[in-house]
Amino acid sequence: SPAESFGSTTDMTAPIADFKYHRQEPGLTGHLAFAIVAAALGSAFQHGYNTGVVNAPKDLVMDFIKIAYMERFDEEPGHQTVTMIFSIMVSIFCIGGMVGALGTAYVSEKFGRKGALLLNNIFVFIAAGLMGFSKMARSYEMLIMGRFFIGLNSGLNAGLAPMYLTEVSPIHLRGAVGTIYQLVITISILISQILALPQILGTEEHWPYIFAIIVIPAIFMLVTMPLCPESPRYILIFQGKEVAAQKALTWFRGTIEVHDEMDEMRSEYEAMKMVPKVTLQEMWTNPVFRTPLIISVVVMLSQQLSGINAAIFFSTEIFESAGLNKETALYATLGMGTINVLMTVISLVLVERAGRRTLHLIGLGGMGIITVILTLCMCLKTLLPWLSYLSIVCVIGFVVMFATGPGSIPWFLVSELFGQGARSIATSIAVAVNWSANFVVGLGFLPLANVLGDYTFLIFTVLLAFFWVFTYKKVPETKNKTVEEITSIFRQRMYQ
Ligand code: GLC
Repeated sequence: SPAESFGSTTDMTAPIADFKYHRQEPGLTGHLAFAIVAAALGSAFQHGYNTGVVNAPKDLVMDFIKIAYMERFDEEPGHQTVTMIFSIMVSIFCIGGMVGALGTAYVSEKFGRKGALLLNNIFVFIAAGLMGFSKMARSYEMLIMGRFFIGLNSGLNAGLAPMYLTEVSPIHLRGAVGTIYQLVITISILISQILALPQILGTEEHWPYIFAIIVIPAIFMLVTMPLCPESPRYILIFQGKEVAAQKALTWFRGTIEVHDEMDEMRSEYEAMKMVPKVTLQEMWTNPVFRTPLIISVVVMLSQQLSGINAAIFFSTEIFESAGLNKETALYATLGMGTINVLMTVISLVLVERAGRRTLHLIGLGGMGIITVILTLCMCLKTLLPWLSYLSIVCVIGFVVMFATGPGSIPWFLVSELFGQGARSIATSIAVAVNWSANFVVGLGFLPLANVLGDYTFLIFTVLLAFFWVFTYKKVPETKNKTVEEITSIFRQRMYQ
């Protein structure tokens, strides 16, 4: 009957359509989404939250340092001593980050991406214990040590999580999934700013909770991540287990039609076998690795030396100097944090359309132009008072441009530029450079601002111009390309 033949036609085409769909465009399955949330939430939360957390409760913590010091030494510490102890506490986070980042290569290969992410939570519990009980124990050393441990954890996360996320994603979603790491960072910075408000936990009595709350995302990860498989690429390439890798990939893709991706992974494996173990020395002497390494490092530097954390850390001061009162400045900071989140969501969508290179260029270029306008506003604001408001718009625009590309792209670009053999070592180096630059800006900005005053942001203009030209000349587009295709770009460049 016609009905039957209609039915049979549908039956015949459906599997073909399905087959084609899965082979070419494996989508965002429930399992993949679950793994993304499990891996990104607990890891990037620590990175973002602990970046933002020390700003708002600054006065409370400084008071605590003063009291603890007085009780111990029976004399009142000078303002400089308290400021110094506080600055050590703030900046040791980045030192921990640097050390953690350097450890990424080793632990990601020894324990796997997933295993290392899970183990890394040990540091969260140590840090939370130290910081949460510091007030009770009257010990600012515990705060300092706690910040070091959570830095260690965050540095490892910044290497491990983007690696896991990019490795488990299908090619056409790799950038979007990689961006989730930065998205969670921005959300967590905002959460830290909100929780530290005096109406919530920013009080003399409750501030230790602000530092102890970090155990919650750690527990979340410990509960959810064991349900997800290890990165199939790791299973195949490091453990050589073909069947297990295929099983893991099937879990992520929700289909057994994973042959194309398995083939692609196998060719990465073959390529790796030809260069068995990439050493540090080899990274530097072999141009096939050196070029992408330089790109990774410079792109990381462009993220931090764009001056973003000068805006994130000191926005309240910048807004106040632009004429807002303290309370309004605080809310403007929250507004800025919210815009950072929203714009990162937009970039998540754009990154698979416009591409990494284009968005990075737009972001850096926009930031550079804005620093010039901001400087003009600062210099002329006594002549034209309304320029103060324009400078607030500038700071917000600066964050918008950052979130367009430079915020998220560096994290996953490193994983895209390298095959499995060199990926973890390159990640270690690049992420460690990121934390070092973060450390330098965090410590250097205020002293620099004291010397240069209204002209401070021009330093970032110069740096941004350099990074723009570098990106334009050297950074290849990686959107929709397999690892093989990307690494062959560098092989070709070598012979040019
Ligand atoms: C990036 C930077 C981090 C910064 C954040 C702001 O994650 O690495 O230092 O605070 O962006 O959104």
